[in-house]
Amino acid sequence: MDITVEKSKPLKGSIKIPADKSITHRAFMFSALTKGKVKVTNYSRGADCLSTLKIVQQLGCNINYINEKELIITAPKIIKSPSNALDCGNSGTTTRLMMGILAGQNFNSSLLGDESLSKRPMKRVIAPLELMGAKISHNDYKLPIEIYGSSLHGINYQSPLASAQVKSCLLLAGLFAQGMTSFTEPYKSRNHTELMFEYMGADLNTNKNTVTIQKSDLNPVDITIPGDISSAAFFIAAALVIPDSDILIKNVGINETRSGILDILKKMNADIKILNERLISNEKVADINVKYSDLKATTIQGEIIPRLIDELPIIATIASQAEGTTIIKDAQDLRNKEADRISAITTELKKIGCNIEETQDGFIINGKNNLTGNCEINCYHDHRIAMSLYIAGLICKKPIKINEFQWVNISFPEFLKLFSKLN
Ligand code: S3P
Repeated sequence: MDITVEKSKPLKGSIKIPADKSITHRAFMFSALTKGKVKVTNYSRGADCLSTLKIVQQLGCNINYINEKELIITAPKIIKSPSNALDCGNSGTTTRLMMGILAGQNFNSSLLGDESLSKRPMKRVIAPLELMGAKISHNDYKLPIEIYGSSLHGINYQSPLASAQVKSCLLLAGLFAQGMTSFTEPYKSRNHTELMFEYMGADLNTNKNTVTIQKSDLNPVDITIPGDISSAAFFIAAALVIPDSDILIKNVGINETRSGILDILKKMNADIKILNERLISNEKVADINVKYSDLKATTIQGEIIPRLIDELPIIATIASQAEGTTIIKDAQDLRNKEADRISAITTELKKIGCNIEETQDGFIINGKNNLTGNCEINCYHDHRIAMSLYIAGLICKKPIKINEFQWVNISFPEFLKLFSKLN
Protein backbone atom coordinates (compact mmCIF):
# COMPACT_ATOMS: atom_id res chain seq x y z
CA MET A 1 0.00 0.00 0.00
CA ASP A 2 1.61 3.25 -1.16
CA ILE A 3 0.31 6.43 0.48
CA THR A 4 0.58 10.18 -0.07
CA VAL A 5 1.17 12.39 2.95
CA GLU A 6 0.32 16.09 2.83
CA LYS A 7 1.01 19.09 5.02
CA SER A 8 -1.16 18.84 8.14
CA LYS A 9 -3.49 21.26 9.92
CA PRO A 10 -2.89 21.65 13.69
CA LEU A 11 -3.62 18.46 15.65
CA LYS A 12 -6.29 18.77 18.36
CA GLY A 13 -8.20 16.34 20.57
CA SER A 14 -7.45 13.15 22.44
CA ILE A 15 -6.64 9.55 21.54
CA LYS A 16 -5.99 6.28 23.36
CA ILE A 17 -2.82 4.48 22.29
CA PRO A 18 -3.07 0.72 21.58
CA ALA A 19 -1.28 -1.82 23.74
CA ASP A 20 2.46 -2.05 24.21
CA LYS A 21 4.12 -4.52 21.84
CA SER A 22 6.95 -5.57 24.19
CA ILE A 23 4.56 -6.20 27.08
CA THR A 24 2.05 -8.06 24.89
CA HIS A 25 4.75 -10.50 23.70
CA ARG A 26 5.64 -11.19 27.33
CA ALA A 27 2.00 -11.53 28.43
CA PHE A 28 1.36 -14.15 25.73
CA MET A 29 4.58 -16.12 26.33
CA PHE A 30 4.56 -16.02 30.12
CA SER A 31 0.85 -16.99 30.26
CA ALA A 32 1.78 -20.09 28.25
CA LEU A 33 4.04 -21.15 31.13
CA THR A 34 1.49 -20.79 33.95
CA LYS A 35 -0.30 -24.17 33.58
CA GLY A 36 -3.51 -22.15 34.17
CA LYS A 37 -5.87 -19.53 32.72
CA VAL A 38 -4.82 -15.90 32.18
CA LYS A 39 -7.10 -13.11 30.95
CA VAL A 40 -5.09 -10.60 28.91
CA THR A 41 -6.80 -7.22 28.53
CA ASN A 42 -5.81 -4.67 25.89
CA TYR A 43 -3.30 -6.70 23.87
CA SER A 44 -1.44 -5.49 20.77
CA ARG A 45 -2.96 -6.73 17.53
CA GLY A 46 0.15 -5.87 15.51
CA ALA A 47 1.52 -8.66 13.30
CA ASP A 48 4.55 -9.21 15.59
CA CYS A 49 2.42 -10.05 18.62
CA LEU A 50 0.13 -12.20 16.50
CA SER A 51 3.22 -14.24 15.52
CA THR A 52 3.86 -14.85 19.22
CA LEU A 53 0.21 -15.74 19.84
CA LYS A 54 0.24 -18.30 17.05
CA ILE A 55 3.38 -19.89 18.46
CA VAL A 56 1.94 -20.24 21.97
CA GLN A 57 -1.02 -22.01 20.35
CA GLN A 58 1.39 -24.39 18.60
CA LEU A 59 2.86 -25.07 22.05
CA GLY A 60 -0.54 -26.24 23.31
CA CYS A 61 -2.29 -23.08 24.57
CA ASN A 62 -5.96 -22.60 23.90
CA ILE A 63 -7.00 -19.02 23.01
CA ASN A 64 -10.51 -17.79 23.73
CA TYR A 65 -11.27 -14.36 22.24
CA ILE A 66 -13.79 -12.61 24.52
CA ASN A 67 -14.00 -9.36 22.54
CA GLU A 68 -11.70 -7.01 20.55
CA LYS A 69 -9.73 -6.13 23.67
CA GLU A 70 -9.69 -9.28 25.76
CA LEU A 71 -8.66 -12.87 25.39
CA ILE A 72 -8.10 -15.80 27.71
CA ILE A 73 -5.04 -18.02 27.33
CA THR A 74 -5.42 -21.50 28.80
CA ALA A 75 -1.98 -23.03 29.17
CA PRO A 76 -1.34 -26.79 29.06
CA LYS A 77 0.08 -28.59 32.12
CA ILE A 78 3.30 -29.13 30.15
CA ILE A 79 4.00 -27.19 26.97
CA LYS A 80 3.61 -29.38 23.95
CA SER A 81 6.16 -30.35 21.31
CA PRO A 82 5.13 -28.38 18.18
CA SER A 83 4.44 -30.46 15.09
CA ASN A 84 5.52 -27.71 12.66
CA ALA A 85 8.24 -25.05 12.50
CA LEU A 86 7.47 -21.94 14.58
CA ASP A 87 7.18 -18.89 12.31
CA CYS A 88 8.37 -15.70 14.05
CA GLY A 89 7.45 -13.53 11.04
CA ASN A 90 9.25 -10.18 11.32
CA SER A 91 9.64 -10.29 15.10
CA GLY A 92 13.05 -10.31 16.81
CA THR A 93 11.40 -10.30 20.24
CA THR A 94 9.39 -13.44 19.41
CA THR A 95 12.52 -15.24 18.20
CA ARG A 96 14.91 -14.32 20.98
CA LEU A 97 12.49 -14.78 23.87
CA MET A 98 11.04 -18.03 22.49
CA MET A 99 14.57 -19.43 22.20
CA GLY A 100 14.93 -18.96 25.97
CA ILE A 101 11.72 -20.94 26.57
CA LEU A 102 12.46 -23.69 24.05
CA ALA A 103 16.10 -24.35 24.96
CA GLY A 104 15.18 -25.99 28.29
CA GLN A 105 12.31 -28.23 27.07
CA ASN A 106 12.47 -31.98 26.51
CA PHE A 107 11.56 -31.72 22.82
CA ASN A 108 13.10 -30.33 19.66
CA SER A 109 11.75 -27.31 17.82
CA SER A 110 12.60 -25.14 14.86
CA LEU A 111 12.21 -21.40 14.37
CA LEU A 112 12.06 -19.43 11.13
CA GLY A 113 11.19 -15.91 10.04
CA ASP A 114 10.69 -13.54 7.11
CA GLU A 115 13.48 -12.17 4.91
CA SER A 116 14.40 -9.30 7.25
CA LEU A 117 14.33 -11.42 10.43
CA SER A 118 16.42 -14.10 8.72
CA LYS A 119 19.24 -11.56 8.34
CA ARG A 120 19.25 -10.45 11.98
CA PRO A 121 22.00 -11.56 14.41
CA MET A 122 21.10 -14.34 16.85
CA LYS A 123 24.57 -15.00 18.27
CA ARG A 124 23.73 -12.63 21.12
CA VAL A 125 21.28 -15.26 22.45
CA ILE A 126 22.77 -18.46 21.03
CA ALA A 127 26.17 -17.92 22.73
CA PRO A 128 24.87 -17.51 26.32
CA LEU A 129 22.24 -20.23 25.88
CA GLU A 130 25.02 -22.63 24.81
CA LEU A 131 26.91 -21.70 27.98
CA MET A 132 23.79 -22.85 29.88
CA GLY A 133 23.96 -26.22 28.09
CA ALA A 134 21.56 -25.52 25.20
CA LYS A 135 21.97 -27.39 21.93
CA ILE A 136 21.23 -25.25 18.92
CA SER A 137 21.98 -25.50 15.22
CA HIS A 138 21.80 -22.38 13.08
CA ASN A 139 22.60 -20.80 9.75
CA ASP A 140 25.75 -18.82 10.67
CA TYR A 141 23.99 -17.58 13.84
CA LYS A 142 20.87 -16.63 11.89
CA LEU A 143 17.43 -18.17 11.28
CA PRO A 144 16.36 -20.86 10.52
CA ILE A 145 17.35 -22.33 13.88
CA GLU A 146 16.87 -25.81 15.35
CA ILE A 147 16.72 -26.18 19.11
CA TYR A 148 17.38 -29.61 20.58
CA GLY A 149 15.70 -29.54 23.99
CA SER A 150 18.16 -30.25 26.81
CA SER A 151 18.59 -29.71 30.53
CA LEU A 152 20.09 -26.33 31.36
CA HIS A 153 22.16 -25.05 34.25
CA GLY A 154 22.39 -21.47 35.52
CA ILE A 155 25.27 -19.14 34.60
CA ASN A 156 26.48 -15.67 35.56
CA TYR A 157 26.42 -13.84 32.24
CA GLN A 158 28.07 -10.46 31.64
CA SER A 159 26.42 -9.18 28.48
CA PRO A 160 28.49 -6.90 26.24
CA LEU A 161 25.17 -5.40 25.04
CA ALA A 162 22.40 -3.65 26.93
CA SER A 163 19.54 -5.71 25.49
CA ALA A 164 16.13 -6.59 26.91
CA GLN A 165 15.74 -9.36 24.37
CA VAL A 166 18.97 -11.08 25.46
CA LYS A 167 18.17 -10.49 29.14
CA SER A 168 14.63 -11.86 28.75
CA CYS A 169 15.86 -14.89 26.81
CA LEU A 170 18.24 -15.82 29.63
CA LEU A 171 15.69 -15.14 32.38
CA LEU A 172 13.19 -17.39 30.58
CA ALA A 173 15.83 -20.11 30.20
CA GLY A 174 16.60 -19.55 33.90
CA LEU A 175 13.01 -20.54 34.79
CA PHE A 176 13.88 -24.08 33.61
CA ALA A 177 17.59 -24.25 34.57
CA GLN A 178 19.14 -25.92 37.61
CA GLY A 179 20.65 -23.38 40.01
CA MET A 180 20.79 -19.65 39.67
CA THR A 181 20.98 -17.63 36.43
CA SER A 182 22.23 -14.08 36.54
CA PHE A 183 22.47 -11.48 33.80
CA THR A 184 24.45 -8.24 33.96
CA GLU A 185 24.34 -5.56 31.26
CA PRO A 186 26.36 -2.35 30.80
CA TYR A 187 23.26 -0.13 30.96
CA LYS A 188 19.78 -0.99 32.09
CA SER A 189 17.50 -2.10 29.25
CA ARG A 190 13.69 -2.26 29.43
CA ASN A 191 12.56 -4.28 32.46
CA HIS A 192 9.10 -5.55 31.44
CA THR A 193 10.20 -9.16 31.93
CA GLU A 194 11.38 -8.50 35.47
CA LEU A 195 8.17 -6.62 36.36
CA MET A 196 5.89 -9.29 34.90
CA PHE A 197 7.90 -12.12 36.47
CA GLU A 198 7.55 -10.43 39.88
CA TYR A 199 3.83 -9.92 39.23
CA MET A 200 3.52 -13.66 38.42
CA GLY A 201 5.50 -14.74 41.49
CA ALA A 202 8.88 -15.80 40.05
CA ASP A 203 11.91 -15.95 42.36
CA LEU A 204 13.76 -12.93 40.93
CA ASN A 205 16.13 -10.31 42.27
CA THR A 206 17.29 -7.05 40.69
CA ASN A 207 20.37 -5.13 41.78
CA LYS A 208 21.36 -2.18 39.56
CA ASN A 209 22.09 -3.72 36.12
CA THR A 210 22.09 -7.33 37.35
CA VAL A 211 19.03 -9.59 37.46
CA THR A 212 19.12 -13.00 39.10
CA ILE A 213 16.55 -15.76 38.79
CA GLN A 214 16.06 -19.21 40.35
CA LYS A 215 14.11 -22.04 38.72
CA SER A 216 10.51 -20.90 39.31
CA ASP A 217 6.85 -21.39 38.38
CA LEU A 218 4.74 -18.51 37.08
CA ASN A 219 1.27 -17.97 38.58
CA PRO A 220 -1.74 -17.47 36.29
CA VAL A 221 -2.74 -13.88 37.10
CA ASP A 222 -4.74 -11.62 34.79
CA ILE A 223 -2.75 -8.96 32.94
CA THR A 224 -3.81 -5.54 31.63
CA ILE A 225 -1.41 -4.01 29.12
CA PRO A 226 -0.75 -0.25 28.95
CA GLY A 227 -0.51 1.74 25.72
CA ASP A 228 2.80 1.64 23.85
CA ILE A 229 5.08 4.65 24.42
CA SER A 230 6.93 3.70 21.21
CA SER A 231 3.64 4.16 19.30
CA ALA A 232 2.71 7.27 21.29
CA ALA A 233 6.09 8.73 20.25
CA PHE A 234 4.81 9.36 16.70
CA PHE A 235 1.86 11.39 17.99
CA ILE A 236 4.04 13.23 20.50
CA ALA A 237 6.39 14.11 17.63
CA ALA A 238 3.59 15.25 15.35
CA ALA A 239 2.11 17.58 17.98
CA LEU A 240 5.55 19.05 18.74
CA VAL A 241 6.35 19.93 15.13
CA ILE A 242 2.94 20.91 13.65
CA PRO A 243 2.22 24.56 14.64
CA ASP A 244 -0.71 25.18 17.04
CA SER A 245 -1.17 21.51 17.93
CA ASP A 246 -2.42 20.54 21.39
CA ILE A 247 -3.32 16.88 22.04
CA LEU A 248 -3.93 14.45 24.89
CA ILE A 249 -2.58 10.91 24.53
CA LYS A 250 -4.24 8.59 27.03
CA ASN A 251 -3.10 5.40 28.70
CA VAL A 252 0.61 5.43 27.81
CA GLY A 253 3.12 3.17 29.58
CA ILE A 254 5.79 5.40 31.15
CA ASN A 255 8.07 2.74 32.70
CA GLU A 256 11.42 4.58 33.27
CA THR A 257 13.32 2.00 31.23
CA ARG A 258 11.22 3.06 28.20
CA SER A 259 10.63 6.76 28.78
CA GLY A 260 14.00 8.13 27.64
CA ILE A 261 12.20 9.98 24.85
CA LEU A 262 10.23 12.05 27.39
CA ASP A 263 13.43 13.03 29.23
CA ILE A 264 15.16 14.02 25.99
CA LEU A 265 12.19 15.99 24.69
CA LYS A 266 11.92 17.91 27.96
CA LYS A 267 15.61 18.77 27.55
CA MET A 268 14.75 19.96 24.04
CA ASN A 269 12.22 22.42 25.53
CA ALA A 270 9.14 20.40 24.58
CA ASP A 271 5.83 21.37 26.19
CA ILE A 272 4.85 17.96 27.57
CA LYS A 273 2.80 17.30 30.70
CA ILE A 274 2.50 13.89 32.38
CA LEU A 275 -0.96 13.57 33.97
CA ASN A 276 -2.92 11.03 35.97
CA GLU A 277 -0.03 8.66 36.80
CA ARG A 278 -1.12 5.20 37.92
CA LEU A 279 0.06 1.55 38.14
CA ILE A 280 -1.49 -1.19 35.96
CA SER A 281 -0.33 -4.81 36.32
CA ASN A 282 2.96 -3.57 37.85
CA GLU A 283 3.63 -1.04 35.02
CA LYS A 284 3.45 2.77 35.35
CA VAL A 285 0.88 4.44 33.08
CA ALA A 286 -0.11 8.09 32.47
CA ASP A 287 -1.88 10.45 30.09
CA ILE A 288 0.36 12.83 28.16
CA ASN A 289 -0.51 16.34 27.01
CA VAL A 290 1.68 17.64 24.17
CA LYS A 291 1.71 21.10 22.57
CA TYR A 292 3.59 22.53 19.60
CA SER A 293 6.97 23.72 20.94
CA ASP A 294 9.99 25.81 20.11
CA LEU A 295 12.52 22.96 20.21
CA LYS A 296 16.28 23.18 20.89
CA ALA A 297 18.91 20.66 19.75
CA THR A 298 20.57 18.21 22.13
CA THR A 299 23.12 15.38 22.34
CA ILE A 300 21.88 11.84 22.99
CA GLN A 301 24.43 9.20 24.03
CA GLY A 302 25.45 6.54 26.58
CA GLU A 303 23.14 5.20 29.26
CA ILE A 304 19.95 6.72 27.84
CA ILE A 305 20.26 4.91 24.48
CA PRO A 306 18.55 1.63 25.56
CA ARG A 307 15.75 3.72 27.13
CA LEU A 308 14.86 5.21 23.72
CA ILE A 309 16.45 2.88 21.16
CA ASP A 310 13.22 2.36 19.19
CA GLU A 311 12.45 6.09 19.20
CA LEU A 312 15.69 7.25 17.52
CA PRO A 313 14.22 7.40 13.98
CA ILE A 314 11.33 9.60 15.11
CA ILE A 315 13.74 11.68 17.22
CA ALA A 316 15.62 12.35 13.96
CA THR A 317 12.41 13.75 12.45
CA ILE A 318 11.81 15.90 15.55
CA ALA A 319 15.42 17.14 15.59
CA SER A 320 15.02 18.35 11.99
CA GLN A 321 12.78 21.08 13.46
CA ALA A 322 14.92 21.98 16.51
CA GLU A 323 17.24 24.96 16.66
CA GLY A 324 20.90 23.86 16.53
CA THR A 325 22.72 20.59 15.94
CA THR A 326 21.43 17.35 17.45
CA ILE A 327 24.01 14.59 17.84
CA ILE A 328 23.09 10.93 18.41
CA LYS A 329 25.93 8.57 19.41
CA ASP A 330 26.39 5.04 20.85
CA ALA A 331 23.42 3.71 18.86
CA GLN A 332 25.34 1.23 16.70
CA ASP A 333 22.77 -1.54 17.40
CA LEU A 334 20.21 0.51 15.48
CA ARG A 335 21.83 -1.04 12.40
CA ASN A 336 20.59 -4.50 13.55
CA LYS A 337 16.88 -3.72 13.80
CA GLU A 338 14.17 -4.56 11.23
CA ALA A 339 16.32 -2.46 8.84
CA ASP A 340 19.62 -0.64 9.25
CA ARG A 341 17.77 2.27 10.83
CA ILE A 342 20.78 4.63 10.82
CA SER A 343 21.22 4.34 7.09
CA ALA A 344 17.47 4.15 6.27
CA ILE A 345 16.37 7.26 8.16
CA THR A 346 19.38 9.29 6.98
CA THR A 347 18.86 8.40 3.31
CA GLU A 348 15.12 9.08 3.30
CA LEU A 349 15.11 12.26 5.41
CA LYS A 350 17.80 13.68 3.12
CA LYS A 351 15.51 13.11 0.12
CA ILE A 352 12.84 15.35 1.63
CA GLY A 353 15.29 18.16 2.41
CA CYS A 354 16.68 17.39 5.87
CA ASN A 355 20.26 18.27 6.75
CA ILE A 356 21.28 14.94 8.32
CA GLU A 357 24.57 13.00 8.22
CA GLU A 358 25.07 9.33 9.03
CA THR A 359 27.86 8.36 11.45
CA GLN A 360 29.03 4.86 12.37
CA ASP A 361 26.96 4.81 15.59
CA GLY A 362 24.26 7.41 15.01
CA PHE A 363 23.55 10.62 13.12
CA ILE A 364 24.01 14.38 13.22
CA ILE A 365 21.11 16.66 12.34
CA ASN A 366 21.39 20.37 11.67
CA GLY A 367 17.97 21.63 12.64
CA LYS A 368 15.33 24.17 11.61
CA ASN A 369 14.98 22.56 8.19
CA ASN A 370 12.31 23.62 5.74
CA LEU A 371 11.37 20.19 4.49
CA THR A 372 10.51 20.42 0.83
CA GLY A 373 9.01 16.98 0.17
CA ASN A 374 7.79 16.51 -3.39
CA CYS A 375 9.39 13.07 -3.70
CA GLU A 376 8.89 9.34 -3.31
CA ILE A 377 10.40 7.58 -0.31
CA ASN A 378 10.86 4.04 0.99
CA CYS A 379 10.30 2.48 4.39
CA TYR A 380 12.74 -0.47 4.06
CA HIS A 381 10.09 -2.97 5.26
CA ASP A 382 10.42 -1.28 8.67
CA HIS A 383 7.36 -0.08 10.60
CA ARG A 384 9.21 2.55 12.65
CA ILE A 385 10.94 4.03 9.57
CA ALA A 386 7.52 4.18 7.84
CA MET A 387 5.89 6.08 10.71
CA SER A 388 8.87 8.42 11.26
CA LEU A 389 8.71 9.44 7.60
CA TYR A 390 4.95 9.87 7.76
CA ILE A 391 5.41 12.47 10.51
CA ALA A 392 8.07 14.24 8.43
CA GLY A 393 5.57 14.26 5.53
CA LEU A 394 3.08 16.19 7.67
CA ILE A 395 5.42 19.21 7.77
CA CYS A 396 6.74 19.07 4.19
CA LYS A 397 5.85 21.95 1.87
CA LYS A 398 4.77 19.56 -0.89
CA PRO A 399 3.30 16.03 -0.50
CA ILE A 400 5.50 12.93 -0.28
CA LYS A 401 4.65 9.43 -1.44
CA ILE A 402 5.64 6.61 0.94
CA ASN A 403 5.95 3.21 -0.70
CA GLU A 404 4.73 0.03 1.04
CA PHE A 405 3.31 1.80 4.06
CA GLN A 406 1.56 -1.46 5.06
CA TRP A 407 4.68 -2.31 7.11
CA VAL A 408 3.11 -0.14 9.80
CA ASN A 409 0.91 -3.17 10.61
CA ILE A 410 3.87 -4.89 12.28
CA SER A 411 3.33 -2.84 15.44
CA PHE A 412 0.55 -0.32 14.85
CA PRO A 413 -2.31 -1.29 12.50
CA GLU A 414 -4.47 1.49 14.00
CA PHE A 415 -1.95 4.26 13.10
CA LEU A 416 -3.75 5.99 10.18
CA LYS A 417 -7.19 5.71 11.78
CA LEU A 418 -5.97 7.29 15.02
CA PHE A 419 -4.27 10.09 13.10
CA SER A 420 -7.47 10.96 11.31
CA LYS A 421 -9.10 11.50 14.75
CA LEU A 422 -6.75 14.41 15.49
CA ASN A 423 -7.31 16.35 12.27
C1 S3P B 1 12.60 -5.23 22.81
C2 S3P B 1 13.90 -4.85 23.08
C3 S3P B 1 14.68 -3.96 22.21
C4 S3P B 1 13.80 -3.21 21.24
C5 S3P B 1 12.78 -4.10 20.59
C6 S3P B 1 11.88 -4.76 21.63
C7 S3P B 1 11.92 -6.13 23.76
O1 S3P B 1 15.61 -4.73 21.47
O2 S3P B 1 14.57 -2.57 20.26
O3 S3P B 1 11.97 -3.36 19.71
O4 S3P B 1 10.66 -6.23 23.70
O5 S3P B 1 12.59 -6.75 24.58
P1 S3P B 1 17.07 -5.13 22.05
O6 S3P B 1 16.88 -6.00 23.21
O7 S3P B 1 17.71 -5.84 20.90
O8 S3P B 1 17.73 -3.83 22.36
